[in-house]
Amino acid sequence: LSPESQNILSAYEWVTKLYHHLLRYTKDGKAGYQYFLDRGITDETIDVFQLGFAPNIKDFTAEFLKKKGFHQQILVKAGLLSMQEDNSVTDRFRGRVIFPIRNHLGKPIGFGGRTITDQEPKYLNSSESELFQKGRILYNFDQAKKHIRKQSEAVLFEGYMDVISAHQAGVKNGIATLGTSLTENQAKLLHRYVDTVIICYDADRAGLDATYKAAGALQKAGCHVKIANLREGMDPDSFIHQFGAEAFKDEVIKASHTFTSFYMQYVKKDFNLSLEADRIQYIEKVIEQLALIDSSVEREYYLKELSNEFDVSMESLNQEIQSQRENIS
Ligand code: GTP
Ligand code: MN
Ligand code: MN
Ligand code: MN
Ligand code: MN
Repeated sequence: LSPESQNILSAYEWVTKLYHHLLRYTKDGKAGYQYFLDRGITDETIDVFQLGFAPNIKDFTAEFLKKKGFHQQILVKAGLLSMQEDNSVTDRFRGRVIFPIRNHLGKPIGFGGRTITDQEPKYLNSSESELFQKGRILYNFDQAKKHIRKQSEAVLFEGYMDVISAHQAGVKNGIATLGTSLTENQAKLLHRYVDTVIICYDADRAGLDATYKAAGALQKAGCHVKIANLREGMDPDSFIHQFGAEAFKDEVIKASHTFTSFYMQYVKKDFNLSLEADRIQYIEKVIEQLALIDSSVEREYYLKELSNEFDVSMESLNQEIQSQRENIS
């Protein structure tokens, strides 16, 4: 590591402790503490994730780090301070609860900061640096990896709060990207630890599209993908809040769907199934996907579903898939 990166690591270590301490034990952090309490997060969980609060004071962090002997320039590069037009610096995170983002060795290298009022943006991240590259980091990977190994499964979430609520509910093998699509780099990293990844993104339009994309990246990296069974409109955190830990584990995680079954629902959005021509195109599109499955039992299973849903004979579906498979091999 360059001396500059070591300096940045040290600054993040200080500020992580500072923000966490403020939240947990001081009046200045009370608003942040209350925010997490209101969202059902316990003291223990706050400590495990080192959650913190950045007070709404212009140069609170800047002054703190100045006293510790850090140079402003480095702190700006680190994404802890922002440079103003008149070349003065201010704290980047103000009046936000702080989610420290740790590297895979457990060292904080960046922050996600969520507004507790309704400022834009809802989440603000540290700017990218040599140390902090969103496409190479998975939130909570440092703590999750031993559970991922033990359970031979990882659960991939969209947001920090989903990882944290799931952890508190007993699902400790959860990780998340930092508000961006899953990269090839992240997929490969995961596959070094595990073969099966359950994608548990938000059950909204954006979440479904992101699920399809992430599944592709994971499969390309060699992972077996499952899709959590979250009901429409929910995200994992809101589900846990509303229905509890046991329901989350049993009805959402354990009841995950196969990728194929997700796919058969997902691609329906591209067709108007009240039209005959579209129904036929949909069936053909699904069969293209089914032709990639090696297990004949599994193929047969989904073909039966198609056959029932669209009242097409198994014989013709089988014929179609056989010719597709001959094209592939
Ligand atoms: P809560 O409202 O706190 O429950 O957040 P959420 O995690 O449910 O938010 P959402 O599903 O909208 O977004 C998922 C993730 O995307 C967040 O955890 C962030 O990492 C990221 N994200 C969301 N909003 C923003 C934003 O405005 N800016 C940036 N940079 N990232 C965002
Ligand atoms: Mn493998
Ligand atoms: Mn979302
Ligand atoms: Mn969400
Ligand atoms: Mn949420």
